[in-house]
Amino acid sequence: MTGRDSVLWLLAMCSLGTAAWRGNTQPKLITLLGSDNNVHRFTGNDTHPDHFRLIVQDEQNLLVGGRNLVHNLTLADLTEIQKLAWVSPDNDRTMCSMKGRDFEQCQNYIRVLTKISTGRFLICGTNAYKPVCREYASQPSGYLMEREWSGRGSCPYGPNVNSTAVFVDGELYSGTYADFAGFDPLIFREPLRTAQFDSNTFNHPIDFVNSFAHGDYVYFFFREGAVECTNCGNTIYSRVARVCKSDKESTSNVIEGRYGAESAEIVYAVFNALNNGSAVCAFRLQDISKAFDGPFAGATEKVPDPRPGKCVNDSRAMPSVTRNFIQKHPRMEQSVDSFFGRPIVTQVTSNYRFTQIAVDPQVKTPGGKAYDVLFIGTDNGKVIKAVNAESADNPKKVNTVVIEEIQVFPPAVAITSLKIVRHESLTKPRLIVVSNSEIQSIKLHRCDSNILVNNSCSGCVGLQDPHCAWDKQAQKCVTKNSATRWNGENSFYQSIATGLHGSCPI
Ligand SMILES: *[C@@H]1O[C@H](CO)[C@@H](O)[C@H](O)[C@H]1NC(C)=O
Ligand SMILES: *[C@@H]1O[C@H](CO)[C@@H](O)[C@H](O)[C@H]1NC(C)=O
Ligand SMILES: *[C@@H]1O[C@H](CO)[C@@H](O)[C@H](O)[C@H]1NC(C)=O
Ligand SMILES: *[C@@H]1O[C@H](CO)[C@@H](O)[C@H](O)[C@H]1NC(C)=O
Ligand SMILES: *[C@@H]1O[C@H](CO)[C@@H](O)[C@H](O)[C@H]1NC(C)=O
Ligand SMILES: *[C@@H]1O[C@H](CO)[C@@H](O)[C@H](O)[C@H]1NC(C)=O
Repeated sequence: MTGRDSVLWLLAMCSLGTAAWRGNTQPKLITLLGSDNNVHRFTGNDTHPDHFRLIVQDEQNLLVGGRNLVHNLTLADLTEIQKLAWVSPDNDRTMCSMKGRDFEQCQNYIRVLTKISTGRFLICGTNAYKPVCREYASQPSGYLMEREWSGRGSCPYGPNVNSTAVFVDGELYSGTYADFAGFDPLIFREPLRTAQFDSNTFNHPIDFVNSFAHGDYVYFFFREGAVECTNCGNTIYSRVARVCKSDKESTSNVIEGRYGAESAEIVYAVFNALNNGSAVCAFRLQDISKAFDGPFAGATEKVPDPRPGKCVNDSRAMPSVTRNFIQKHPRMEQSVDSFFGRPIVTQVTSNYRFTQIAVDPQVKTPGGKAYDVLFIGTDNGKVIKAVNAESADNPKKVNTVVIEEIQVFPPAVAITSLKIVRHESLTKPRLIVVSNSEIQSIKLHRCDSNILVNNSCSGCVGLQDPHCAWDKQAQKCVTKNSATRWNGENSFYQSIATGLHGSCPI
């Protein structure tokens, strides 16, 4: 990318600190979802894998990108009410198989799906290894395709590539691969892209994890094959890239919370070590920004003005001295350390990995303290629900509580997306869990499970689940809803920090 669209990189460190290389995923509660757990399912095509990846909430509907289709489901129970069919033309499919891809790969998997405005959607599909983007208008009679253009750079070629995209201020920013063979990773915003086959930019292989907009910038988190990090020790690392966006406006995936006496804007990310081990770390946006404002790796010359990476107006062409400097030194010298100083959850066996994370931010508990509740998807069908029980008291400490481990899919099935959805049409928010061939909607908590708490005050408080509290009057473990507000310590007992409450007999 040139001009104001230069990309800068830095290393994000998820350091295990002095703690031994051991995991902390022992759950308090193991849940096998039965029909009594109020689960809704959508299974798509029962004879062929759908490779579901994308879920987008549109008011009281859920749009899901699958195989040759965009499904329009109700949020309430995942009933399909409409679908948009988009099958690759025969000649594209023929070309795809002539180039050696199999029947499954030569389908159209929807990988970018975003609402442009009411009733208008931008959709990109792999289109049998020849990605295409389209703009559709939703009309009473069906969907009207209004525009079509090449999706190269915006959308991956095949169903198994992990890519990311974010739509801000009318523009699509994506992190994906731009070639048939999967050798050309890039960050792209039409018509600009990162340099091709430049080892200064990427080290193979790249796994794009997440992207979000904040302030002047769009950020990308991704994993890289080899990273220069000689003294990293017990640290898992990842990269963050940053590009300027045109307008300062929207923010997504960023949590504004209170951690001890501090207010901070943070993002949570899943980290994977090369061979074994996964972790979840949080990063403060302010720390990421600071590292991007710091020294450039390997630069001995004076940093030019305007400073590389600073967003300047479109109209102002970037001087060649600045552009050359960025080409030589795209990486930042300083890395960014995780916010709490340690990962919040770690998994060290080679048995499984974390794949996805969704956060219910700042869940208020009786007494007023608020906690970020983490839902972590794994590649063995599980969702792990966890909380940093220290976070409301001290932003520099971690006390991991793994509240619950939910076996959502069979152990051979990886979770490919996770999302918390809320809407007035739902009595409570729900967690949407996605795998290649199935989507489930489950409750965020199981406060009322008899097995877990045996209907006891100490069992309920002992779960340390910010979604639950012991209702003194009703003598039940309950969750907050519009009817039951937490009215302070007198009616509801909870203590996330300790799991003990003075008024609950042990
Ligand atoms: C499932 O996929 C196959 C192969 O693409 C297709 O022929 C069939 O119509 C699909 N079934 C449904 C219910 O969409
Ligand atoms: C999904 O269905 C709802 C209800 O029919 C409709 O209002 C909405 O526009 C649909 N969205 C898409 C993308 O088709
Ligand atoms: C840059 O943009 C800002 C806000 O749009 C404007 O006020 C300013 O005059 C512009 N500067 C230049 C050098 O164009
Ligand atoms: C995981 O990797 C670490 C660091 O390479 C190593 O010390 C540890 O023994 C490995 N653990 C397992 C269970 O393989
Ligand atoms: C893509 O993501 C899945 C799940 O997160 C992971 O298992 C897989 O290894 C990733 N693929 C690549 C090519 O990195
Ligand atoms: C709950 O009660 C059952 C049967 O009374 C008992 O077997 C189990 O250990 C109890 N669980 C807890 C967590 O106390």
